[in-house]
Amino acid sequence: MGELELISQSPDDTKKIGAIIGELTVQGDVLLLEGKLGAGKTCLTQGIALGLGIDDYVLSPTFVIMRELYGRLPLYHIDLYRLDNIEESIDLGLDDYFYGDGLSVVEWAEKAISIMPQRHLLIRIDYISDTERRLLLEPSGERYLELAQNIIKGYTNS
Ligand SMILES: Nc1ncnc2c1ncn2[C@@H]1O[C@H](COP(=O)(O)OP(=O)(O)OP(=O)(O)O)[C@@H](O)[C@H]1O
Ligand SMILES: [Mg+2]
Repeated sequence: MGELELISQSPDDTKKIGAIIGELTVQGDVLLLEGKLGAGKTCLTQGIALGLGIDDYVLSPTFVIMRELYGRLPLYHIDLYRLDNIEESIDLGLDDYFYGDGLSVVEWAEKAISIMPQRHLLIRIDYISDTERRLLLEPSGERYLELAQNIIKGYTNS
C-alpha cells in the first residue's frame, strides 16, 4: 500500500479535501485530527461541514469542547485542546458521539488517544510552508482504509 498522503497548497485546497470527506462519510465514522496550532484542523473541519451540507461557518469549539451541527448527518466537532488530563476527557462521555448517529471529528485527539475508538481515520496535518500543508491519512480498520483511498481518489480527480 502506498502512502496515503495529500498536499494542500492553500486553505481552499484543505477545505476542498474536507468537503470530499464530508460527502464520503457515513454514520458512526470517527476522524481524529492531529497537527500543531494553526496546522489547519479547523479549516479541514469547515470543509467537512460544507460537504455535509452545513452552511454555518464552523468555529473552533475550543471554549465548549463540543459543537453539534446538522447537515446530511450530524457533525460532532470536538476540540480537546483545553483538556488538562485524561480523566477530564473520560468525564465528557464522548462515546455517546463516537457511537451515535453522526460523524465525529476530534481536534487534538492525541490528548486522549487512549479513549478514542480503535477504528478511526487519523489525519496528521504537517506544516510545509505558510500556505502548504501535508495531510497524512492513517486508517485503522478496513472501513477507514477504503475511506482514505476514496478521499485520495476524489481529490486527485477533482
Ligand atoms: N494549505 C492550508 N491549509 C489550511 N490552512 C492553511 C493553509 N495555508 C494557510 N493556512 C492558514 O493556517 C491557519 C489554519 O488555522 P486552523 O484554525 O484551521 O488551525 P488548527 O489546526 O485548527 O489550529 P488550533 O490547534 O489552534 O485549533 C489558517 O489561518 C489558514 O488560513
Ligand atoms: Mg482548531
